[in-house]
Amino acid sequence: MPEKVLIVDDDPGIRSTISDLIEELGYASETASDGLDAVGMLDRGPYMCVFTDIMMPNMSGLELIKRIKAREVSLPIIVITGYASLEIAIDAMKYGASDFISKPFKVKQIELMLNKMKREKTLLEENRRFSDTLHLHRLIDNLVGQIEDKNEEIISLQEISEKIIGLKGIRDLVGAIIDVSRQLLDEAEVRFFPLNSKDNTLMDTSSGDAIPADPTLLHGNIVRKSSSESRFTDRFESVFPLMIEGQVFGALHVVSPAALGEEKEGKILYLLNRSAERMENVALYEGLYENMLSTLNSLAKTLDARDPHTAQHSTRVTTLSMAMADALELSDLERDTLYISASLHDIGKVGIPDDILLKPGRLTDAEFDIIRKHPDIGADILKPLPPMSRETEIIRHHHERYDGKGYPSGLTAAEIPYLSRIIALADSFDAMTSDRPYRKGMSIEEAIREITACKGLQFDPVLADLFIALNGVEPG
Ligand SMILES: [Fe+2]
Repeated sequence: MPEKVLIVDDDPGIRSTISDLIEELGYASETASDGLDAVGMLDRGPYMCVFTDIMMPNMSGLELIKRIKAREVSLPIIVITGYASLEIAIDAMKYGASDFISKPFKVKQIELMLNKMKREKTLLEENRRFSDTLHLHRLIDNLVGQIEDKNEEIISLQEISEKIIGLKGIRDLVGAIIDVSRQLLDEAEVRFFPLNSKDNTLMDTSSGDAIPADPTLLHGNIVRKSSSESRFTDRFESVFPLMIEGQVFGALHVVSPAALGEEKEGKILYLLNRSAERMENVALYEGLYENMLSTLNSLAKTLDARDPHTAQHSTRVTTLSMAMADALELSDLERDTLYISASLHDIGKVGIPDDILLKPGRLTDAEFDIIRKHPDIGADILKPLPPMSRETEIIRHHHERYDGKGYPSGLTAAEIPYLSRIIALADSFDAMTSDRPYRKGMSIEEAIREITACKGLQFDPVLADLFIALNGVEPG
């Protein structure tokens, strides 16, 4: 009879994926759809271990862990967790969970876990057979040792995750993988070789050599070479694939004095899997984002083509806004948001009819009412794009006034998004200093005087002072 594993998750897809992987490894599996269901099934055991989700209806995974531990302290529990819930997984480990596993589930990872549990179970059973004090002591020592190891593991997994969460690009990723691997594997030489997928060679970036990649690696598996097979005598070589979106992207090459063993291999696999997950998210997001930005930029160009008088307006407003961002030492996130919002602040003018937008003379009140719709139109254009939620609100409010007499919402002071207040200054300054068919633009001195006069009325007084300091001409 194969040993049984209990899988608890409210998502039937996850239940069947894990159950298939486990059965592929020669174990039997049973499933439950929430904690309550699982508690009812414990009598049907014995189970070798339990895989459980945390967020479930009726009874959460944390409660289930408590119930299981109260009943059978030695039954190992593995928490199934999403990318974002590392903290929950660590909490679960404090409640007594043995380990955690996150998507995408890999058969090798599950295999390592099950092997480890089997070993621990055998050890516990052996210890149970002896009842004399000596063995009891050994058992306790062993358990304490396991707990200490586990603590160490939590800390290093946490470090790994923190490093990965901060990653931005491929170069960062490779640097972090090497750093963390060196921390995990002392006395090992760790290097990373990118794969050239045209001819399946690994690039040794320091010597420039191209090394043919082992077919095992190209299939996504670890290559292990003992000292006799390795070109490094007396050393062991392990080559781990870094897979991104199902493709081998490169290889982590480890040369160590002894074979790494399951524990260390497991940690490196975890590191590589998490890094790949992170990169997949970044790539997905950046791809969507770039696509969207290019669409919006071509929309902005259409607008510029229609209205030559404002063609360079958005560019100048962006330059003026970014000078404010520098002076205010805004964060990278705020800078990106400001850059996009300033570039696209008048995007809503694509929805204004030509005879109004391009009218050479002054606008009537009715026409001006239509022009005043452009911030809302702009926000409506961006609204369906979830990564643009911050920019949407900033664009919507770029014509608000500090005293509440602006449009579209009549917000006052701090109610107006901060970045909108910056764009309002840049926008008004550029409008005042630009020539229009019906009037010549003001001089910089006149425009600065106007901004000074409107401090606290149209403009945020603190931001206006900064804007004046940056753009004003020193009185000679
Ligand atoms: Fe505008």
